[in-house]
Amino acid sequence: MADLKIGGLHKYYGSLHVVKGIDLEIPEGEFTVLVGQSGCGKSTLLRTIAGLETADKGSIEIGGQRVNDLPPKDRDIAMVFQNYALYPYMRIYDNIAFGLRARKTPASEIDGKVKAAAKMLAIEHLLDRYPRQLSGGQLQRVAIGRAVVRNARLYLFDEPLSNLDAQLREEMRGEIKRLHQELGKTMIYVTHDQIEAMTMADRIVLLREGVIEQQGAPLDLYERPATRYVAGFLGSPTMNFIPAVIILNGMKLSVRLGDGTALEIPSSRSGGLGPWQGKPLLLGVRPEHLSRATGELRPGAATCDTKVDLVQPTGSRTYATLNVGGTQVVAEMQAHDVSAPGERVTLAIDMNRMILVDTATDKVISS
Ligand SMILES: Nc1ncnc2c1ncn2[C@@H]1O[C@H](COP(=O)(O)OP(=O)(O)OP(=O)(O)O)[C@@H](O)[C@H]1O
Ligand SMILES: [Mg+2]
Repeated sequence: MADLKIGGLHKYYGSLHVVKGIDLEIPEGEFTVLVGQSGCGKSTLLRTIAGLETADKGSIEIGGQRVNDLPPKDRDIAMVFQNYALYPYMRIYDNIAFGLRARKTPASEIDGKVKAAAKMLAIEHLLDRYPRQLSGGQLQRVAIGRAVVRNARLYLFDEPLSNLDAQLREEMRGEIKRLHQELGKTMIYVTHDQIEAMTMADRIVLLREGVIEQQGAPLDLYERPATRYVAGFLGSPTMNFIPAVIILNGMKLSVRLGDGTALEIPSSRSGGLGPWQGKPLLLGVRPEHLSRATGELRPGAATCDTKVDLVQPTGSRTYATLNVGGTQVVAEMQAHDVSAPGERVTLAIDMNRMILVDTATDKVISS
């Protein structure tokens, strides 16, 4: 059964249409990540689910019950906010216990719950301190603790790691994921960070200007994006897009680029592409599917001779910027595959993994 079911949801702020018809079903126990650019309506959607905003149209059901007209406190939801305001004059213990006391939980039970949550989040030694005596990462954990002590049906997180440095973020990502495994609760996590979405989600829901652009398992979206937007949103460095047309080269279909380079499409990928011959398309190739051709080529690889323009080593890999068919592309190479700008290389393009986008609709046409 869907734990959360949203149907035809709309939300306006005055004349600003922010949520534009969302249909979403989230099964019990799933970790869903709601991702999208700043301003696309993520917080608004989350706040509407929590009841902090009213839905203008559509229905919200939690555990089979319509909750549109229920106040937030009766929706069985615990939420961690984007700016995790703690009560500055209360000790950490009392901050965590606050929600339980407000719900008239017996004192004996409160103590057990606060301590168990503190243990899980490794903040037991901080319970007697005040918020001003904690670091950003510790405060973040207190805010999460305050939500998880509540035995809620649905947990909502609105960018709970946005104020942390990169290392702490990584650590906390793991901790939240572990928390989900331990509690087995339904959680919705909002972020605009695609890496966070990929690493944490059972399912990603990609929001664009108030509508769902695509949803699915992280690798599904990554490997089978439905639109150019999704293809470009997930992945870092981002997917390369090169203007192209499909041509018939002897008996086989090829992709021809602006400078005349022809890249053969493997037969496993050419089904249904015949009618697209001659139409303006974009060839989409991820940086990790471009490599330096050495020795024998792998099946499905096409090659192109080019010159390195820019070299950016990251340590484990090296990003090389090169020109393919008149477009600058980024290739993610082995650390020592290229050394300096100006170097001539033969690039191998894994055509098994490419996508083709119709420029008229921005939809992916290859399957
Ligand atoms: N209370 C409000 N009154 C009027 N407009 C609002 C209000 N809250 C949000 N908006 C507008 O609604 C749109 C969506 O805002 P929202 O906060 O949902 O975006 P978001 O996806 O959470 O972005 P971010 O990643 O920056 O947090 C924005 O254009 C924003 O300016
Ligand atoms: Mg937001």
